[in-house]
Amino acid sequence: MKRNILITGGAGFIGSHVVRLFVNKYPDYNIVNLDLLTYAGNLANLKDVEGRPNYKFVKADIADYDAVRRIMAEHEIDGVIHLAAESHVDRSIKDPFTFARTNVMGTLALLQAARERWESLPEKYEGKLFYHISTDEVYGALELTHPGGTTAPFSTKASAGGHEAYGTEFFLETTNYNPHSPYSASKASSDHFVRAYHDTYGMPVVVTNCSNNYGPYQFPEKLIPLFVNNIRHGKPLPVYGKGENVRDWLYVEDHARAIDLIFHKGRIAETYNIGGFNEWKNIDLIRVLIRTVDRLLGNPEGHSDHLITYVTDRAGHDLRYAIDSRKLQRELGWEPSLQFEEGIEKTVRWYLDNQDWMDRITSGEYEKYYEEMYSGR
Ligand code: NAD
Ligand code: DAU
Repeated sequence: MKRNILITGGAGFIGSHVVRLFVNKYPDYNIVNLDLLTYAGNLANLKDVEGRPNYKFVKADIADYDAVRRIMAEHEIDGVIHLAAESHVDRSIKDPFTFARTNVMGTLALLQAARERWESLPEKYEGKLFYHISTDEVYGALELTHPGGTTAPFSTKASAGGHEAYGTEFFLETTNYNPHSPYSASKASSDHFVRAYHDTYGMPVVVTNCSNNYGPYQFPEKLIPLFVNNIRHGKPLPVYGKGENVRDWLYVEDHARAIDLIFHKGRIAETYNIGGFNEWKNIDLIRVLIRTVDRLLGNPEGHSDHLITYVTDRAGHDLRYAIDSRKLQRELGWEPSLQFEEGIEKTVRWYLDNQDWMDRITSGEYEKYYEEMYSGR
């Protein structure tokens, strides 16, 4: 079947993996990548698909209602996969307005443009879908009741090998929203708008809330690419607080596969949580990164341990995230494809092998921003 799909934020980290998957897997679909190319958007992430006949890039701001309306009409869009966002918690603490503008107003502009377009057609909402990509951070933070870890109650391929859980509670699709950072508050607000468009106007929507992603093409302000690059260059590794915070890590291609499955087979108006039952304390993950980078660079074991530098904690730093993804596994048969240690090895190798990609980003403006952001920590 032919489809015209608008993917927003396709030049970013997760978006680029989703665009690549759809362009390669669905030659009959027209994939339109709408991205403003903010500091986080990078067309180099999509070099391998840029000349493909079923792919088109459009530079635009999701918060520019008129531009979005034009794009929806011009490309006869019948499905939206919405990833464009301001995505970094530390930036949201410094500049919350940008997060409200992009994540809330931008999502609203897209919803309204989709509504206007789809309601003007004879078939209206039939065969249409607005798929909103959200985060587990909207649920707030979980208790860390087992600081030393305990046997995880469920496991997936990602957590195979007897990985640990750090508490007995998990985020479910029914967990109440309780965001703490300006980033998660803006994502929570956008989620509410998406559901409101279903309940008020009958728009077919689906929302997914995913845990922390890792893999190639992630902007090096986020923990994993930042630390891999710092280890390589012998720079300090700024660990917030005591490094006790827990995150639930999923390989980015497994997230993209889940998005594909839910876009095609998910139930309308449903929410699906996506995660691999793969919890790691930051400091333990950082030790794995140090060991892996040192080994791949041929350094002796322990060579980069001294780079660990404890710094002032992130304001409002959520202690633990842990997703219960059993609904998605049960209803649609999704499972992570990679065991975490395999995924980390692949990821670290990718960053080491793609130093040009990293160098272009970490020079110039980004360096200046980084200095400003972290001076005084
Ligand atoms: P990212 O920061 O790497 O990419 C965001 C993309 O959005 C960039 O290409 C940027 O240019 C674009 N963008 C920003 N503002 C825009 C605007 N006004 N108009 C058009 N494009 C704009 O983000 P990511 O980590 O790939 O996250 C993608 C989505 O997934 C976000 O909605 C995020 O909340 C969500 N998410 C991320 C994670 C994660 O671990 N990274 C986990 C769960 C959910
Ligand atoms: O849970 C999903 C979320 O994961 C997404 O919605 C966000 O877009 C994404 O950025 C990510 O948020 P986090 O804040 O968890 O990711 P980050 O990589 O910024 O940090 C991971 C953990 O590491 C967190 O506990 C903070 C800590 N940290 C981070 C950085 C950048 C450090 O200790 N030092 C650092 O320099």
